[in-house]
Amino acid sequence: MSSWDTSDPFAEARTKTGVLDVDFDGEHIPLVLRYGDVRKAAGDYGTFSSNAPFRVPIPSEEHVRTTRQLPIEIDPPEHTDYRAIVQPFFSRPKKAEMIEAVETLVETMLDEATALDSVEIIHEFALPLQSRALTLLLGMPMDAAEEWIAWGTHVFHGHDAPSEEKGDRLDAYVREQLDRAEREPGDDFFSALTRASYRGRPLTHEEMVGFAVLTFAGGRDTIINILSFTLVHLAEHPQVLTRLRESPILIRSAIEEFVRVASPLTHIGRVCPHNTDVNGVAVKADHRISLCWASANRDETVFESPDEVIIDRKRNAHVGFGSGAHTCLGASQARLILRTLIGQICERGIALEVLDGEPHYEEWPGYRRQTGFNYLNMKLTARTEREGGL
Ligand code: HEM
Repeated sequence: MSSWDTSDPFAEARTKTGVLDVDFDGEHIPLVLRYGDVRKAAGDYGTFSSNAPFRVPIPSEEHVRTTRQLPIEIDPPEHTDYRAIVQPFFSRPKKAEMIEAVETLVETMLDEATALDSVEIIHEFALPLQSRALTLLLGMPMDAAEEWIAWGTHVFHGHDAPSEEKGDRLDAYVREQLDRAEREPGDDFFSALTRASYRGRPLTHEEMVGFAVLTFAGGRDTIINILSFTLVHLAEHPQVLTRLRESPILIRSAIEEFVRVASPLTHIGRVCPHNTDVNGVAVKADHRISLCWASANRDETVFESPDEVIIDRKRNAHVGFGSGAHTCLGASQARLILRTLIGQICERGIALEVLDGEPHYEEWPGYRRQTGFNYLNMKLTARTEREGGL
């Protein structure tokens, strides 16, 4: 099967209690499911805190890394000052120079993909596109991407190597780059970290590592998954592609809708500093809850026909990129990549066909949802070839 299973595993629990208890490797964590509750909790860092190294991701990551990821594992007001340090890099996708560079990158990658009879989208298209686009965001040379591509679709997890080994490799790479930046400073992200100051003092080495590791971890599988969702959806709904071709103005709202329905990051944790209660479920101090973006994005009290992909949906205040202080820093990058790709597919009249694939399910006792593909073969046909061949 190669379609995307967009069913919503949280619907029943969301309607009944608004909370789902999930056993993550022996740690029982209540997932907060309703849109209003998720947004409220995301704004209440006194009760639901991110000030917890290794414990914002679920399962937690003590065994794969040694530093606190910044700015995600800290609460305001410190978070505000940490986030401001890297904000200029994450704002680059709004600049003409970066927009142009991503256009050229996508153009080249589509030229290569359309020249093949079949392209494996996950490893041969989405992963290289994500990594090459990241070089542009971070001001690194394009060939740096080749090493990042070799790390696979997730920096910590996957079948290619044990998680600890992958974590060590990323740590070593980041430290090497910071050393290089200290020796030969430039305009890149690592060099900027070595020059940055936090509340009047230089960043510590561990803080620099924490920023850099998150930048590699945060926007990898999420981008790969939203790219594959988008390509499969357009391949299987040619009428949507035709509509976007006729009205490119809808590309922006279509992207928001793809992010809402696919919700590449299902949920993310918060630690409760005090005993608390979520919808009648008691949570002890130092235990965790999780904010389930994927469920909030299907809340029927907020989104009409929540399971349908409606590319011109009005009032689409989805939380696919999070909510509150920690709202995704990479959202502009994600939107730029998607906008450029869909735009060029439309302009160049590229036809998309799914050949075969193996869906990837995120699965825990309590829920199972498709978040991507292990592999996905597609054929991308350029207009000239189609006209000539027909
Ligand atoms: C479709 C793609 C993406 C999705 C769905 C996504 C989703 C999210 C979500 C839900 C959060 C909030 C986490 C929380 O509240 O604790 C977040 C935060 C973050 N994301 Fe993304 N993300 C995507 C792409 C990216 C990319 C491309 C990058 C980097 C290049 C990135 C870097 C970050 C960072 C640094 C944060 C932490 C922000 C903070 O703590 O202030 N993300 N992302």
